[in-house]
Amino acid sequence: MAKDHPSSPIDTDGQAANKLWGGRFAGGPADIMQEINASIGFDARLAGQDVAGSKAHAAMLAKQNIISEADAKAIIDGLDAIEADIANGTFTFSTALEDIHMNVEAALADRIGPAAGRLHTARSRNDQVATDFRLYVREALDRLDAALREVQAALIDQSDAHAATVMPGFTHLQSAQPVTFGHHLLAYVEMLGRDRSRVADARARMNECPLGSAALAGTPFPIDRHATAAALGFDRPTANSLDSVSDRDFALDYLATAAIAAMHLSRLAEEIVIWTSDAFGFVRLSDAFSTGSSIMPQKRNPDAAELVRAKTGRIVGALVGLLTVMKGLPLAYQKDMQEDKEPVFDADQTIMLATAAMAGMIADLTVNKDAMSQAARTGFPTATDLADWLVRSLDMPFRQAHHVTGRIVALAEDKGCDLSDLDLGEMQKVEPGISQDVFDVLSVEASVASRASFGGTAPDAVRGAAKAARRRFLDETTD
Ligand code: ARG
Repeated sequence: MAKDHPSSPIDTDGQAANKLWGGRFAGGPADIMQEINASIGFDARLAGQDVAGSKAHAAMLAKQNIISEADAKAIIDGLDAIEADIANGTFTFSTALEDIHMNVEAALADRIGPAAGRLHTARSRNDQVATDFRLYVREALDRLDAALREVQAALIDQSDAHAATVMPGFTHLQSAQPVTFGHHLLAYVEMLGRDRSRVADARARMNECPLGSAALAGTPFPIDRHATAAALGFDRPTANSLDSVSDRDFALDYLATAAIAAMHLSRLAEEIVIWTSDAFGFVRLSDAFSTGSSIMPQKRNPDAAELVRAKTGRIVGALVGLLTVMKGLPLAYQKDMQEDKEPVFDADQTIMLATAAMAGMIADLTVNKDAMSQAARTGFPTATDLADWLVRSLDMPFRQAHHVTGRIVALAEDKGCDLSDLDLGEMQKVEPGISQDVFDVLSVEASVASRASFGGTAPDAVRGAAKAARRRFLDETTD
């Protein structure tokens, strides 16, 4: 889960000229200026990343003889102490200090004195925030990958257990052809597998370090950007300083990936809502994932599924919100970009909650095989099997087979029975070539068993697919 917001208090007064740029100013900001400008209320969450970035920067500055080893040590020790204070809630964040970067720097000055003033050599808050936020998004991507894997693991376990459980397959939400429940769940495993590959793509693309791009143009100091990039686990430094400080594609990639994953979770959630309804009754959620009604004692509501479905709106909203913030911005950094963080924090927290709830619901659900099988039998779902039999056994053109089958379906409908309940003689009145072995394809079990093509719904194919999915997505070997 995302790190909790630090519990340290935020001090909201302080009208004196800002310590970090006060040289140019005679007075302090209006209250409302401070309120609209400050990001500490949400970017305090980046404290860990900010300290990590500053430590890497200070170490590099010393190595390059830009600051002394003694100053670097004082800075790094001071930053560690500040991080500990933040972690245990004894740090007081100040709105007057606007954001996490200036809060940490001011605290460092209080703690170690003038050496703190050397930390900001050869950098700016613009490359600093870009670095901190990338570090955060990289962690969010890793969390998302692990969470999606958990949902896949729960789905694969249920697929294995229900490789032969017959249910109606739907198109237009009308019974179409019988499928197995395992096959149906494995469809979601594929979707989440694509989500995870989007996570991997986004991570590979974003893992470049903007630190050292400074305000926008680079720096005259002899810094080593490759060293800071490596120290922070990035593959390389970003190539263009203007792009470095004004790019938020990494956050958009994250949000787009999360939005698509959330859409997938929402579709599954919608199916759970349908399956658990009284009209369907295919699936029962555990007590742990059901809610009651305050007035109707019989109710078991699928609230968690409904909320997974609903929370998709916030994540899609976060994506659209940040796209809208970014779309009109000229190079390079603009303060608008401070609005990048809350949507990402919210999407991160939301998708982690949604994936955890989905993994829990799937792992615990029980299947009403009778209800599924009963439903799979209604609506003449093996009509296509009959048409295919006519093509295979009587060498009939498919269009003609479709027509003949339609007449046989009408016959069964008139009699109020299933196709497999019709007499051979009745079918032969429609098509004299039909023989006894047609009954081999008219049952739903025979229908699913026949669909053994790669990627098909036959129980054996599903067992094989579940095994392959364990190998592909969970790195598990089952032999
Ligand atoms: N709080 C700012 C943000 O989140 C940090 C960067 C501020 N840079 C500046 N030039 N004012 O974007």
